[in-house]
Amino acid sequence: MNTTELNQAFTAIFGAEADATFFSPGRINLIGEHTDYNGGHVFPAAITLGTYGAARKRDDKLMRFYSANFEDKGIIEVALDNLVFAKEDNWTNYPKGVVKFLQEAGHKIDSGFDLYVFGNIPNGSGLSSSASLELLMGIVAEELFGLKLERLDLVKIGKQTENEFIGVNSGIMDQFAIGMGADKKAIYLDTNTLEYDLVPLDLGDNVIVIMNTNKRRELADSKYNERRAECEKAVEELNVLLDIKTLGELDAQTFDEYSYLIKDENRIKRARHAIWENQRTLQARQALEAGELEQFGRLVNASHVSLEHDYEVTGLELDTLAHTAWEQEGVLGARMTGAGFGGCGIAIVAKDKVDAFTENVGKVYTEKIGYAPAFYIAEIAGGSRVLSRK
Ligand code: GLA
Repeated sequence: MNTTELNQAFTAIFGAEADATFFSPGRINLIGEHTDYNGGHVFPAAITLGTYGAARKRDDKLMRFYSANFEDKGIIEVALDNLVFAKEDNWTNYPKGVVKFLQEAGHKIDSGFDLYVFGNIPNGSGLSSSASLELLMGIVAEELFGLKLERLDLVKIGKQTENEFIGVNSGIMDQFAIGMGADKKAIYLDTNTLEYDLVPLDLGDNVIVIMNTNKRRELADSKYNERRAECEKAVEELNVLLDIKTLGELDAQTFDEYSYLIKDENRIKRARHAIWENQRTLQARQALEAGELEQFGRLVNASHVSLEHDYEVTGLELDTLAHTAWEQEGVLGARMTGAGFGGCGIAIVAKDKVDAFTENVGKVYTEKIGYAPAFYIAEIAGGSRVLSRK
């Protein structure tokens, strides 16, 4: 969607010109999965799929929201002094949460606004449409109300919205990747210190293919919170002799020596994933920077194996995509990306093999699962931003 189309769509719905237009991306994660809430490293990147917005400040205290993705809901109106979660308010709970926490942090939002959004991240695909929307609301408020914020503040307010308003106990990876994304760069982030580097994502003659299972991530939230709790319990057990706050503080050797303290097989597997995945993420960054793409690909594969067998968050659909991808010519590596339980995988594929790849993987998947997957080439681009001003 370009800015002219956005402006026209806004005017058609709200009957006036927008003050500004915006874009907030989605994200993929190269490697470092389920490590962010374990104090480890992640390696995500912002993509060109995302959420577009157009907005205008109002004189009264009314917020009016319209999404082209939920046309049947029409305009949803919420009073600025009524920032509480309400199921029937649907997708607008995300922007409501962001406005609430911006206000609580002392930022002055003293009038309402009209907001039009359109997202082209496939629904429920695990490419972070919710974090994309949270950051979009953040930059809309920044622009309309002249707020003075560091980008990291907006990232944290997005996460706070997810955790405290929506009730999903997620880590900081998605909001960070979306807020801090940069053209053709992946973000190597230490989730413990929030120190990060932008690493050029130079894949030579290869591209990243996003593989969408087209399976909605139904159990995702409850299983997600369950995994978190298992890891926290493992930390508690290790702390009989160690003194750590998160699993990310341990290297593989130390974990191995103390793993006998964990009294449950599942928790040993969960902790092993968190610790090894953190090490793999470190190694993957080094491999990428050294141009050792084959090793990078093997680490990506190893991440999937660990998520499948130790962390157990993949499922038949994601496994079918990854396993089939591994067998194709020109594939450096493939794995699930994001929370798991459905959603998307990624594969690093030679440019001239992409057509054969999508055809073969699509065929095997459809035969086995009963419906077709979808494929998109991931283009890595900048973080949430203003597109135009009146
Ligand atoms: C979801 C969460 C992130 C992260 C991933 C798994 O995307 O929102 O914080 O935990 O799952 O790596």
